[in-house]
Amino acid sequence: MEFSTKIAAPEKLASACIAIGVFEARRLSAAAEALDRAAGGRIRALLASGDMDGKAATTRMLYHLPGIAAERVLLVGLGKDKSVSPKDYRDAVKAAVTTIQDTGSVDACLYLSEIPVAGRDIVWRAQQLALAAAEAAYRFEQMKSKKTDPRPLARIVAGTDSRRDARGIERGLTQGQAIAAGMNIARDLGNLPGNVCTPGYIAEEAVKLGKAWKLGVEVLERADMERLGMGSLLSVAKGSRQPPKFIVLRYSGSGKKDRPVVLVGKGITFDTGGISLKPGPEMDEMKFDMCGAASVLGTLRAAAEMKLRLNVVGLIPTTENMPGGAASKPGDIVTSMSGQTIEILNTDAEGRLILCDALTYAERFEPQAVVDIATLTGACVIALGHVCSGLFSNKNALAKELLAAGEEAWDRAWQMPLWDDYQEQLKSNFADVANIGGRPAGSVTAACFLSRFTRNYDWAHLDIAGTAWRSGKEKGATGRPVPLLTAFLMRRSERG
Ligand code: BES
Ligand code: MN
Ligand code: ZN
Repeated sequence: MEFSTKIAAPEKLASACIAIGVFEARRLSAAAEALDRAAGGRIRALLASGDMDGKAATTRMLYHLPGIAAERVLLVGLGKDKSVSPKDYRDAVKAAVTTIQDTGSVDACLYLSEIPVAGRDIVWRAQQLALAAAEAAYRFEQMKSKKTDPRPLARIVAGTDSRRDARGIERGLTQGQAIAAGMNIARDLGNLPGNVCTPGYIAEEAVKLGKAWKLGVEVLERADMERLGMGSLLSVAKGSRQPPKFIVLRYSGSGKKDRPVVLVGKGITFDTGGISLKPGPEMDEMKFDMCGAASVLGTLRAAAEMKLRLNVVGLIPTTENMPGGAASKPGDIVTSMSGQTIEILNTDAEGRLILCDALTYAERFEPQAVVDIATLTGACVIALGHVCSGLFSNKNALAKELLAAGEEAWDRAWQMPLWDDYQEQLKSNFADVANIGGRPAGSVTAACFLSRFTRNYDWAHLDIAGTAWRSGKEKGATGRPVPLLTAFLMRRSERG
């Protein structure tokens, strides 16, 4: 999909389809007003007929209106408020692109960034156009023997009559495309099955990404991890025939001495639960248990494409979690890279076991901040559903920053407590710490476990178990939280 900006009056914009906004109570956006005037009142007449009520995210296609250069006019409902909510705007734009895609239009002009959205500037509104278009265009067909025909829609123009807005639109479209490309990497990797997307596969993809975007990439093998003392990570890999990998990526967008942001992504390419085997139903969805890792790759790509002025390190511990004769057993005690011993009371709480060693490894980068991203607990889905990710942090300023980034990107997170009171649940009779804390506050005790390995730097943990993929008919990876992470890095980059 190609994006561009055009400055012109809407009625003069030649294209296969022009999309404009209308509100409830027959109120027209500025562009709709202009088209209505050019078409001799045809749009108002349609609204008066009651065939289009302007409800948010409804659409109505009109053909061959007189006095208008475009072949089709798509009315896009925006609801009743003068200042549209970010959600309604996003839904409306998505509905617009989806509807246009179902026509034979090769190109389309969206005259929608002019719509006022509560608390959002022109750059954001344009960014969302690019993101919505990418979302509507996304398909995952790598594993199908017959691909569906490509859809004709190839070019999207964001129209405006304001020279000043045009510059903001340009910037927003560029950002939106970079974020969308990062999300698509994350979605593709997430959607690939566990027999294809193995730790080795993720490592290869990281190397490819590194070549394409000039990232430093290093892949540590089992022997390297043994030398480093990553006994916790390796204990998860024991049951698998697939060799584990520890991937280190570096994006250098500023001086060598500038401390990096370190992103750590959980990369369990399939989580059976191990000896604490998971029940059968929906177990296929545990191929998504590497979505944290995938979001790190996607975010690094977006950072590189946007040439952000900061250093970012990506760390990806990746392995399968399998049962078998060599697998870890409940009651086993392992020694983490930090020296802390861990009693594995449940082999299905494996995410924290691979993350803790990666978090210790992160220390060597003297990070300005470390953010780990993990499909860590089913309990987080129970707490927050599929709307927002769970956020935990040992530094309130960092938590605030990430919450704001999520709000801005509309890829939201909600802060959860990390109080010491919960640490008691992790007491072990036999080791320094147990890897589970019982049923109450499962996502909190998981975060508390991680916090024992992050004492030496500012750290935040995003539990994306509810947001990284959708179940049911629309099953598939979402690309979240690439938008949140990218917004966070953009802000840090601007801050310098
Ligand atoms: N990958 C899962 C978490 C998960 C489960 C995410 C279901 C999304 C949907 C993780 O490794 C896990 O199994 N966690 C356990 C922890 C428990 C054993 C303390 C869980 O959430 O049940
Ligand atoms: Mn598990
Ligand atoms: Zn898992």
